[in-house]
Order: sequence, then C-alpha cells, then structure tokens
Amino acid sequence: MNKIPIIIDCDPGVDDSYAIALANAAPGYEIRAITAVEGNVPASLTRKNVLCLAEIFGIDCRVAFGADRPLVRNYEIDRTAEHVHGQTGLGDIVLPPPSRKPDDKPAWDVIYEEAVKAQGNLILFATGPLTNIALALRAHPDLPSLLSRFCIMGGGTFGNSGAYGKKAEFNIWVDPAAAGEVLEKMDVYMVGLDATHACALTPADMNRMRELCGTSPKNWFLRSLTEFAIRNSEELGMDNNIIHDALAVASMLYPGMVTFEDCHVTVEERPGAENEGQTYVDFERKNGEKVNCHFAVKADQAAFAKRMGEVCRYYAEKI
Ligand code: BDR
Ligand code: CA
Repeated sequence: MNKIPIIIDCDPGVDDSYAIALANAAPGYEIRAITAVEGNVPASLTRKNVLCLAEIFGIDCRVAFGADRPLVRNYEIDRTAEHVHGQTGLGDIVLPPPSRKPDDKPAWDVIYEEAVKAQGNLILFATGPLTNIALALRAHPDLPSLLSRFCIMGGGTFGNSGAYGKKAEFNIWVDPAAAGEVLEKMDVYMVGLDATHACALTPADMNRMRELCGTSPKNWFLRSLTEFAIRNSEELGMDNNIIHDALAVASMLYPGMVTFEDCHVTVEERPGAENEGQTYVDFERKNGEKVNCHFAVKADQAAFAKRMGEVCRYYAEKI
C-alpha cells in the first residue's frame, strides 16, 4: 500500500525533535521533506538541527532551509526559547557538523513541489513560526488546494509568551504577521496550548519513556533528549513535560487522539500591541465569519503518553 506523504516545517527544538521521531516511526506514513524555520533558536541552529535529525533518525527525505527571520521584524532582541530548548535547540546535546547537505531549493519551493507530486495526499505540518508557510503561499497561491490537510502547533485560548505577560503562544508570537496571513488563506487544523497542556506528560510518563529508550548506544540521542527534558522541567520548577509539537503530528497520524471543533481564528498582528500574537478563537461565529480553523478542544493524554513510549521503544529496537 502507498504510504501517506507528509512534510514537517519546524524549528528544532526539543519537542520538534520528538515530532519528527514520531512521524518517522508511524506505519503507513512517509516523510517527504523536513524544512527549517527560525524560532526556538536562530535559523543557523535550526538548519543544522534538521540536517542532523534526518541523519540520526535515518530519514531519507529532502531537507531544506527556509526563513531566517519573521516576515515583519519589529523587535530588537530575538524571540527565541533557549531556556526551554537549551543553547543548541536540542537540549544540552552538542552534535558534530552534519554530513548531509540541504536541498538546493528553499523550503517554500520544496513544500510546493512535494505537494504537486503527492496529488492531493500530502499532510503538511508546521511546528514552528509560520514564516515559511506564509512565504510558500505568496510564491504558490494554489498550495492549499494541493494539500490533504494542514496542521499546526500554535495558538490557544491562553498563552505562554509575550512582552507584556503570557498572552500569546510562542510560535504565533514570533511571527504574528505570518500567522495572520496563513489563517486568511488556508484551512488550518490548530493544535494549540489547550490540547497540548491537556496532554502534559507526568514524571512517571517521562521516566517510562526514558526506560523504553533502552541503553543501546544506537538510541543515545532520544535517550539524552528525554533525560534533558526531565532535568530541565525539574530545574524550571515544572511538575510535567509538554511535548507540544509531537501532539500536533499525532493528531493527524492517529485519528481520535485529538478532537477538533470548527471555528474562526484571528491573530493580534499589531507590532508592539500588548497582546501581540494572541489568537482569538471564535466558535460561535455570530457575525457569520467563515470557518478557517479546526481547533483542538480535547486530547487523550493516556493515548499520547503511550504513543510517546512506543516511539522511544521503536528507536531502541530499530536504529
Ligand atoms: C511551541 O513553542 C516552541 O517552543 C515549541 O517547539 C512549540 O512548537 C509551544 O508553544
Ligand atoms: Ca516548535
């Protein structure tokens, strides 16, 4: 049977790494491309990380580079998240230079070419800021009609980032203009903070993942990443681990794990606004707004925790 093609546009990122690992381990799916955007760490590092991750997980796919800054850069200091993802973006893991080379084409062209090839079957994921996707839409306005589904990790009815308190979700906050443009032009499956927080993994879940990673040197990467995640959440005083991006990918690959509801979503795009990057999720659409979003309202924590354990076991046995 033909496998369902997928692309992951991402900013690795600890949870982006788990998202890629989960997608590659899922039977019936095939990663056709991994594309890098700026985000958790500067683009120079997300670019290195996508090349390294494809190599480490043994993924034979195109790897392409995208934007190195948001569409509208209105702030002085980079909006990055090293406190969560470590200085390299992959926790405290420092990888040697990758031996793989990137595609000659930019992320937006690779996404489009693969969408054309897949003839309506491609599932496109974005687990970082939406800069590359907005640029893909500008270059190729017919992209939405070529996709089977487009799913993002981003947004929520509450936030985790922002200059004036946590009103926005990180991915949207880094590039609100891109998010606004994408929501205007595309039908979006949005796995936001509501669902990812509902699927927070407990210390017991994380310890189980660490055990299932095994002790083989071949699975050192996932094991080290899991150990970092456990240690870092303790250091940040959190009693759980939220693997946002992996839930977004799982929501499409394992139907039933996440429940979506139709709604209309807009973004506060005004640079410098107090709630810049905040998403407004309107389920009632009383003014007749069209449905532009399917928002993740419920998610099965136990099923997600089990799946993450299986992902760790897969690499312990496979690599
Ligand atoms: C999102 O922000 C990033 O730090 C994570 O990788 C995830 O995509 C969660 O808000
Ligand atoms: Ca991410």
